[in-house]
Amino acid sequence: MRKIEFLDTSLRDGEQTPGVNFSIKEKVAIAKQLEKWGISAIEAGFPAASPDSFEAVKEIANTLTKTAVTGLARAVKSDIDAAFDALKNAKYPQIHVFIATSPVHMQYKLKKTPDEVIASITEHVTYARSLVEIVEFSPEDATRTEKDFLLKAVQTAVDAGATYINIPDTVGYTTPTEYYETFKFLIDNVTSDRDIVFSPHCHDDLGMATANTLAAIKAGAGRVEGTVNGIGERAGNVALEEVAVALKIREIYYQATSDIVLNETFATSELVSRFSGIPVPKNKAVIGGNAFAHESGIHQDGVLKNPETYEIITPELVGVKKNSLPLGKLSGRHAFITKLQELGFDEVTDAEMKELFSKFKVLADKKNEITDADIRALVAGTTVEN
Ligand code: KIV
Ligand code: ZN
Repeated sequence: MRKIEFLDTSLRDGEQTPGVNFSIKEKVAIAKQLEKWGISAIEAGFPAASPDSFEAVKEIANTLTKTAVTGLARAVKSDIDAAFDALKNAKYPQIHVFIATSPVHMQYKLKKTPDEVIASITEHVTYARSLVEIVEFSPEDATRTEKDFLLKAVQTAVDAGATYINIPDTVGYTTPTEYYETFKFLIDNVTSDRDIVFSPHCHDDLGMATANTLAAIKAGAGRVEGTVNGIGERAGNVALEEVAVALKIREIYYQATSDIVLNETFATSELVSRFSGIPVPKNKAVIGGNAFAHESGIHQDGVLKNPETYEIITPELVGVKKNSLPLGKLSGRHAFITKLQELGFDEVTDAEMKELFSKFKVLADKKNEITDADIRALVAGTTVEN
């Protein structure tokens, strides 16, 4: 099976979330947790952007011992110099050079012709490569770039010494089938006598970031880029925890694995949520509060008999203590009895049970959630006010 590398950009692309501003101390704490989670490379920031961004990359480069540290740079010499300076003490430094290649970006944002963009790729990837061994190149807005020009841009970067080729879906525009074909086309047509690693970098504007990332893996991508909890510009980046767990659950289908320490997933998500101030939605895949909660009677009964009936991911796999069976109006007798036993009421007769269960159903119609206190009150013959 292929081993897929993970690059986390929570501290760079993730920090581009409106309202998110990590302190240097928080960035270092997140970087350490990402290392523990098994991330192979951390994009620690964009050193040329501000003195604090520079310091954070430097601090992280000084701290991490196992994980590669990357700094982002536009195809501009001073950006590359700043990235190199910040990464001086990194054990495994990488510089990530990007320039846009789509018609709309080249014409309106860069005001450069396609030939000028190609010349800039040669110049700046070559320069970055003269400073560090591992250079990543991104043709920004790749998925709205004309196919043959994309190939030319990527081949130019490879010829100039780039090892990682990142194909950003900058505006979350692509679809799984289309992105799969883009990767296949590039992997089949880029030539080099070195090993080149292709990576997806997906934004979630159309809600397809995870599906697109997995499609790129299926097409042969060797590294994925994304953020914890999917934080990032607009609708965010791909949520790496979703990709990591999907790879684990469907590893036969993808014929690929990763080094992500899955039982550190919940702790990683919780830390990023706390420092970013962005709560994880309850119904979020993999790490949401409801990801292991079953409320309907049929599901609760199934899970009590065998969790595999309704759980493809175990809570333990991602570091959550256990699943929960919240009681509500759709809950059945099996979950109700289990809750009574949990609370120590295991000597209830059949007749009492019948009566308690009907009282519970009446109460559940009036309340969104039935608490342990409600159950105790039912047994004691009273009900708790809403
Ligand atoms: O989404 C994007 O295009 C980026 C690049 C800088 C890689 O984040
Ligand atoms: Zn991005």
